[in-house]
Amino acid sequence: MGDALRVGLVGIGNISGQYLDTLPRLPGVALVAAADLDPSRTVPGVRMLRPAELYAAEDVDLVLNLTIPRAHAEVALSAIAAGKHVYGEKPLALSTAEGREVLSAAGAAGVRVGCAPDTVLGTGTQTARRCLDEGAIGQPVAATAFMTTPGHERWHPDPEFYYRPGGGPLFDMGPYYLTALVTLLGPVRRVTGLSATPRSERTVGSGPRAGTAFPVEVATHVAGVLEHENGAVTTMVMSFDVWAAALPRIEVYGTAGSLSVPDPNDFAGDVRVFTAAGGEWADVPASAGYADAGRGTGVADLAAAIAAGTAHRASGELAYHVLDVMESLLRAAETARTQDVTSTCPRPDPVP
Ligand SMILES: NC(=O)c1ccc[n+]([C@@H]2O[C@H](COP(=O)([O-])OP(=O)(O)OC[C@H]3O[C@@H](n4cnc5c(N)ncnc54)[C@H](O)[C@@H]3O)[C@@H](O)[C@H]2O)c1
Repeated sequence: MGDALRVGLVGIGNISGQYLDTLPRLPGVALVAAADLDPSRTVPGVRMLRPAELYAAEDVDLVLNLTIPRAHAEVALSAIAAGKHVYGEKPLALSTAEGREVLSAAGAAGVRVGCAPDTVLGTGTQTARRCLDEGAIGQPVAATAFMTTPGHERWHPDPEFYYRPGGGPLFDMGPYYLTALVTLLGPVRRVTGLSATPRSERTVGSGPRAGTAFPVEVATHVAGVLEHENGAVTTMVMSFDVWAAALPRIEVYGTAGSLSVPDPNDFAGDVRVFTAAGGEWADVPASAGYADAGRGTGVADLAAAIAAGTAHRASGELAYHVLDVMESLLRAAETARTQDVTSTCPRPDPVP
């Protein structure tokens, strides 16, 4: 194990399998323990503890928080109080108020906060970022971001959290798109938008509870307009109310061309550039980002940053800004007024 960052995983649900696939092949990290509120949920071959025991365990350096959004802040604060670094699934917390509590507790304790998504550290978004930085499309002026699905209750056996505060298409999928947009274009200074909740009830579609109806507590269709600090304007639609669409995921439009960015929910994907000079779309081979990455890559990036004394990329500060943009967008939709986004963050360093 050497000097590896020793990881304790909390929350052994649907997404944990992807982390458990990736963690063993990541440099600089070692999974040493796991815990869940539900003691029947275990990880074969890994030391199982109760959550409180895991926070206190002397051989855990970082708590990997894969619980549901409602528990993100509580788990992070427990881990920080025990002196551990934390890296959590998105969103950072249910609200900026909670997110601030997490960041200030970590600051006071001298520990780091990392947060998903780390997909944007893969070759897809990073190759697109390199194109922008090299001026392939000139000065960026605008972008679009579209995520449309009929809803996760079709496939997730416990989908209720997607329809409670902390869920909805914006809080669930927005972090991928907004983190990619901030990686590409930098932070956002103001937002406006509207939202809709066409159905007050949804039905579990898979697993032992299939057929169970549950209430919808959040907006399920969100349309927003974002102004980045560099002046670029993004149009975004995040929806759990669309059966089919032929929309791109993310496109960036510049003074000298256009850039097609792959799905930010994936690590890799096709990047294409259209230049005014060339007059047609051309594929761009992957040339930046972590290759063969999977969920957990952000933890390895954090471990490397601790060892090097540098900033980690999937940071709490970035996740907080993304949370602030999402919260501001929902507030704009509720009040029908443009909202200033008061937080900011540095555009994260590219992955070479
Ligand atoms: N499911 C996916 O495909 C997916 C993809 C990307 C990200 N995510 C994110 O991952 C997180 C988890 O999603 P999931 O689908 O795995 O949820 P899940 O409901 O399948 O699993 C969550 C697990 O956390 C445990 N848990 C809840 N509160 C806890 C607490 N306080 N202490 C300890 N354990 C606790 C639950 O018992 C459960 O086992 C969410 O933030 C979600 O947005 C999920």
